[in-house]
Amino acid sequence: ADAGQVGKIAAANQAVDENVKPGQIVGIGSGSTIVFAVKRIAERNQSEKLNLICIPTSFQARQLIQDYGLALGSLETSPEIDVAIDGADEVDANINLIKGGGGCLMQEKIIASCAKELFIIADDRKDSVALGTSWKKGVPIEVLPMAYRPVQLRIEQVLGGQAKLRMASNKAGPVVTDNGNFLIDWVFDGVQNWEQVDMQLKNIPGVIETGLFLNMTKAAYFGTPDGKVIVRT
Ligand code: A5P
Repeated sequence: ADAGQVGKIAAANQAVDENVKPGQIVGIGSGSTIVFAVKRIAERNQSEKLNLICIPTSFQARQLIQDYGLALGSLETSPEIDVAIDGADEVDANINLIKGGGGCLMQEKIIASCAKELFIIADDRKDSVALGTSWKKGVPIEVLPMAYRPVQLRIEQVLGGQAKLRMASNKAGPVVTDNGNFLIDWVFDGVQNWEQVDMQLKNIPGVIETGLFLNMTKAAYFGTPDGKVIVRT
């Protein structure tokens, strides 16, 4: 079990219990923490007959929904989502997020944008004052494969720092996202104007989406190693 597991479970359980209600369309995030939320939803579904439709944010989420016997939906049939639950790599004092450390971000952001409310669940190591203080791997950026090289150069010209193509650990070559794209991790120095950075990144042709989730989150649930939960709204 990983170091944050007790916190992840506590955060997931509380976020699910407080926010998931019968009959809802629920967005299901990606990563290691969301697994505990899906488990909790499935438990409650057994006892309460929740009648949910779950919309996945990744291949992993789609499998989780099916493995736990929940009803799988899509944005085509359910374009309006009641509540989305997801993890994050870092959450700042204003509940702005860096996401995409696990390779998913574009479908997560689309689902979050279609949700009336987004709740973030994490162990308290993800809790930070300013983005970049606890998560040191940079901002993940999804990029069209044929454009990765000029996008790397342009990011470094416009914003400084280092734009690294994310390489796979189990093959020779880059990580390929669920959407068939590559990822660039932009490692930066110091506090940034995130609204401006996000706009500058999205203005570069070839950039498809960024892992900056700004002003999207309704509340973040941080679980501590002793199982307490701190909620930031
Ligand atoms: C997936 O790529 C991410 O956006 C996840 O939401 C994020 O990495 C959190 O994952 P963990 O729950 O595993 O920390």
